[in-house]
Amino acid sequence: MIGRDLLGIEDLGRDDLERILETARHMQEVGLRDVKRVPTLRGRTIINLFFESSTRTRTSFEIAGKRLSADVINFSAESSSLSKSESILDTARTLDAMAPDAVIVRHKVAGVPKRIADVLDAPVINAGDGAHEHPTQALLDLFTVLQEKGRIDGLTVTIVGDILHSRVARSNVYGFRKLGADVRVVGPPTLLPAGVEALGVKAYSSLREGIEGADVVMALRIQNERLEGAYVPSVREYSAAWGLDRAKLRFAKEDAIVMHPGPINRGVEISHDLADRRPSVILDQVRNGVAVRMAVLYLLTGRAQPAYGD
Ligand code: NCD
Repeated sequence: MIGRDLLGIEDLGRDDLERILETARHMQEVGLRDVKRVPTLRGRTIINLFFESSTRTRTSFEIAGKRLSADVINFSAESSSLSKSESILDTARTLDAMAPDAVIVRHKVAGVPKRIADVLDAPVINAGDGAHEHPTQALLDLFTVLQEKGRIDGLTVTIVGDILHSRVARSNVYGFRKLGADVRVVGPPTLLPAGVEALGVKAYSSLREGIEGADVVMALRIQNERLEGAYVPSVREYSAAWGLDRAKLRFAKEDAIVMHPGPINRGVEISHDLADRRPSVILDQVRNGVAVRMAVLYLLTGRAQPAYGD
């Protein structure tokens, strides 16, 4: 995979997904050591280019790069020349001239990482573009399910909430389908994209029907401001019909796990009590994010370079 971009799960084959997940398993061990650092990417430069806010993803990529001994530079859109109206592509060309070994991009507009990848020599990793894809989130979700269930093939995975606006849902649909799971999406009809079934998923508006017999139930963030009026009558009604709590979870399999990419709206898409304890694995997802991003950085940039004078 060296030198390739990671723009979406849609572009990856089953073998790519399996290679990343297997590599992440080895990377996880580094995080358990007393000294959490290996020299694998020493001398490599990784740029975090975030045009949209992020807590988990940006820090996770930074920690992942540092655990592999790369130099990680955080580029913040507010303090850069972008605020002097330099275009995104000019910014990308400028950064490219500094010869980075990987550039991680988050932007609120779908397709921006691809446009940046077209001008950069270095591999570009999409850290979330609009409502399009968020590939490393799906990879860490796949990794977490694999750890919990020992397999993905044959599982039933139900994604609940604002499917329409969610890049996490889209990447997870591709990822879980490619590895053989049955995927269902559940939400108010207004938040299910028209034609979603063409992606190979079953769509439900009843939470009870959608989670019946599920092995994995994944709740998505609801943006309160988007819900009022336009998509559902009120946050309270959304929560009553599609918010997850222990009582509703009884319809899923007895050993079902609950996931959420964060940030959480407590009491809206997931109850306090369910968010904080098993069967919720939300903090495991965050922890696994570091190992998965180490694997991605290593696989895309880890070529052995000849030492000086060789
Ligand atoms: C997600 C995102 O930004 O796409 N968060 C994340 O990366 N963990 C989900 C969200 O913001 O709702």
